[in-house]
Amino acid sequence: MAVRRIVLLGEEILREPGVEVEAFDDELRSLVADMQETMYFAEGIGLAAPQIGVSLRVCVLDLRDEDDPEAGRWVLVNPVVVESSDEEDKAPEGCLSIPDMEDVVTRPARVTVSGFDAQGEAVEIEADELLARALQHEIDHLDGVLFIDHLSTFKRRALLKKWKKSQKEGAKG
Ligand code: NI
Repeated sequence: MAVRRIVLLGEEILREPGVEVEAFDDELRSLVADMQETMYFAEGIGLAAPQIGVSLRVCVLDLRDEDDPEAGRWVLVNPVVVESSDEEDKAPEGCLSIPDMEDVVTRPARVTVSGFDAQGEAVEIEADELLARALQHEIDHLDGVLFIDHLSTFKRRALLKKWKKSQKEGAKG
């Protein structure tokens, strides 16, 4: 296992649709282990394979915390949103690939997601609240979509301006 470098906004791979996984083998499980280690190191609640430079349809999530130790820990291979509610929900969202940037994103409040775990067993999740949001965010990554794409043009421009400024300051320091 290894902590991998997280790809940042501006790198092409974040915009490429991930390729479907065909082999549920040790290579896949080793990728998943690296993704989990990277996610924990970065203190995120979810990570998609393109974010560590691997263009495959794999994501990991872990929503457990002190307040909610029962909240799920998931590995999803080739996940698909099979149903989403008409009812929407607004909440602030961020992304490990766009560090320190956050904005309110509107998404369906409930989704049903189906996919496979790292062993190739079918997984189906009916989710609401934070899990529904996190699943949609990670599955978006597998299609080359980022949370900033859900913002209005005005808000996206403002966020990108702030992001570019923070990157320049980072490069200096
Ligand atoms: Ni993200």
